[in-house]
Amino acid sequence: MKGLRAPITVFDERQRTQAIGARRTLVAGARAAAIGAVLTLAGWPPGASAQDTAYVGDGKCIVCHVDDSRHFSHTRHAKIFRLNPKTERERQGCEACHGPGSKHVANALDKGTIIGFTREWGTPVEVQNAQCLGCHEGGQRSYWAGSPHALNRIACSDCHSPMARLSKNGLMRTALVSDTCALCHQQQRAEFQRRSHMPLPEGKMSCADCHNPHGSVTRPLLKADSVNETCTVCHAEKRGPFLWEHAPVRESCLNCHVPHGSNNDFLLVGARPFICQQCHSPPLGHPGAFYNASETAAAAQQPGGNQSPRVIGRGCQNCHSQIHGSNHPSRARFQR
Ligand code: HEC
Ligand code: HEC
Ligand code: HEC
Ligand code: HEC
Ligand code: HEC
Ligand code: HEC
Ligand code: HEC
Ligand code: HEC
Ligand code: HEC
Ligand code: HEC
Repeated sequence: MKGLRAPITVFDERQRTQAIGARRTLVAGARAAAIGAVLTLAGWPPGASAQDTAYVGDGKCIVCHVDDSRHFSHTRHAKIFRLNPKTERERQGCEACHGPGSKHVANALDKGTIIGFTREWGTPVEVQNAQCLGCHEGGQRSYWAGSPHALNRIACSDCHSPMARLSKNGLMRTALVSDTCALCHQQQRAEFQRRSHMPLPEGKMSCADCHNPHGSVTRPLLKADSVNETCTVCHAEKRGPFLWEHAPVRESCLNCHVPHGSNNDFLLVGARPFICQQCHSPPLGHPGAFYNASETAAAAQQPGGNQSPRVIGRGCQNCHSQIHGSNHPSRARFQR
């Protein structure tokens, strides 16, 4: 894990326990009330209440934050809030996210006077996220509460940067979604450098094609209801149903494939034919070792050696070629 601008205390056990506590409250049903309670408990901004802090309007903010306002003007938020606001909250502009600013205008250096979204400013993450969720609850974020990112106190602004348009869509911190993920998930980025990988480093797909970073009912944050449904969105021909199904394929693609990258060909978890032999050995079928020691590729290098034609190339798949399932009436053994 690598921090962004300042070390992120994501693995603090105490905070995690609190967060899990908070989640139980949410699950108990009082979601909106709980968010309100967090706000009140956190007492943010300190000493402030709706009564004594007032909305002052963008005009006041821009006097001091002219560059911030200029970059912001290229974003979807700015266009909607400034040109076509649909709700009273959208009309508040800067303050729709940063909260009422009269106290901040009077004393800009007091960090308690305005809701900041940078780690340095120190506004609690729950308070920050509640500001965004005020308009963005539901939809893709239906399972945000209790998701691994929420439990680890990841802020919306760890992935999103609404003050400038740095990505084509989604207001991400970096031009490519996968680069934003890699700010923290270095290991998964490295796995995509292995010999066999899907074209993610090449920019043709992103982490968000398989994961919903906002939360999901399927571990780990998978977009679809199961591993197989995640994969068959793109690899539809592997979905079946087949006349002759191969049990491990039905169960999970991960029985044979690793999603992020592998040094075996075709993203396989092991080399062939061992990957087949690890499940198939006598008494199921013909001998798993379908060649003698004198018939291997290595033995064939010796004078007089002779490789078994069955071990060439894909080994078992010389004959059992349709390993994901077959529709051929007479081929229960996946031979065509
Ligand atoms: C009188 C000048 C002034 C005005 C007016 C002003 N600010 Fe500020 N603002 C500052 C200064 C100075 C800081 C502190 C900068 C720092 O410490 O880096 C600051 C900090 C902030 C921060 C925290 C930045 C961070 O590091 O996370 C936010 C958010 C912010 N202002 C928003 C607003 C908004 C919204 C308004 C209008 C309601 C506003 N400001 C009006 C001067 C002003
Ligand atoms: C859609 C919500 C939203 C709106 C509207 C918004 N901000 Fe921000 N603001 C943020 C977030 C999120 C960050 C943290 C950005 C980051 O870390 O890259 C931020 C950061 C800032 C900072 C600190 C910048 C820095 O780089 O240290 C200032 C100052 C600020 N906003 C002022 C404003 C002003 C002025 C406006 C109106 C012109 C405004 N914001 C409108 C969400 C918003
Ligand atoms: C006042 C309501 C409001 C608040 C507060 C708000 N947003 Fe938005 N946001 C919108 C609207 C409206 C849109 C445009 C939605 C659409 O076009 O369907 C939008 C769009 C977005 C988008 C998609 C932008 C794009 O270009 O694809 C992202 C990402 C986003 N918001 C993140 C945030 C984050 C993060 C925060 C908190 C820092 C936040 N929003 C706070 C109303 C809000
Ligand atoms: C771990 C990274 C991450 C975090 C944390 C995160 N998002 Fe997102 N968000 C994304 C990605 C990735 C997309 C998709 C961008 C795309 O389609 O190009 C996205 C898209 C969005 C969109 C636009 C699509 C839509 O659903 O309408 C909104 C709005 C949004 N996020 C709001 C939020 C809010 C609010 C939070 C905090 C509660 C948040 N996000 C936290 C990564 C994140
Ligand atoms: C600011 C840091 C940060 C960013 C950016 C980030 N994550 Fe995470 N992510 C975390 C942390 C912390 C965890 C929890 C790790 C743990 O529990 O071991 C996590 C967990 C996950 C998990 C595992 C969930 C589980 O159930 O085990 C997935 C999948 C994931 N993130 C995907 C993404 C994707 C996709 C993106 C980019 C859209 C992203 N993350 C961006 C910090 C981040
Ligand atoms: C092709 C779909 C797919 C893509 C693209 C993808 N993942 Fe995953 N990811 C998965 C699946 C499936 C798992 C579950 C693996 C398991 O259980 O062994 C997973 C697991 C994870 C986990 C949990 C820990 C682990 O490694 O098993 C994290 C974190 C994660 N992915 C992050 C990312 C990030 C970051 C990216 C982008 C760089 C990414 N993923 C791209 C499908 C994908
Ligand atoms: C967003 C679309 C998408 C999703 C979702 C997806 N894939 Fe892929 N996959 C691709 C693309 C594109 C290729 C490259 C095809 C090519 O090069 O012809 C690929 C290639 C592969 C390959 C062949 C790799 C090689 O080295 O030749 C395997 C195996 C694979 N995917 C398995 C999976 C599994 C398992 C999942 C689910 C965890 C999955 N895919 C989800 C798009 C996707
Ligand atoms: C029993 C092991 C096994 C399981 C389970 C499995 N595969 Fe495969 N897969 C293979 C083998 C072996 C290859 C090597 C290419 C070949 O000869 O079919 C392969 C190749 C692939 C390829 C690239 C070649 C092609 O045919 O396009 C894709 C894509 C793929 N698998 C997707 C999937 C998906 C999606 C699932 C889950 C529905 C899945 N696999 C489950 C063994 C498996
Ligand atoms: C994760 C374990 C696993 C892996 C890996 C695996 N299989 Fe299977 N295979 C099974 C199971 C379970 C069955 C169903 C056996 C049954 O119905 O009696 C099966 C069935 C078969 C059948 C049909 C047998 C019959 O009785 O109809 C063939 C042929 C076969 N597998 C070949 C292969 C080949 C070739 C590979 C390597 C590419 C492979 N399997 C990898 C578990 C596996
Ligand atoms: C030269 C072709 C060939 C090769 C190579 C081959 N098989 Fe077979 N296999 C067959 C034939 C033909 C059958 C059907 C036998 C029958 O129906 O009695 C079969 C049947 C099977 C069965 C089902 C047996 C049963 O009793 O129902 C399994 C499982 C199997 N093979 C696994 C493997 C594995 C694993 C490998 C690689 C280690 C492999 N095969 C290599 C031709 C081959």
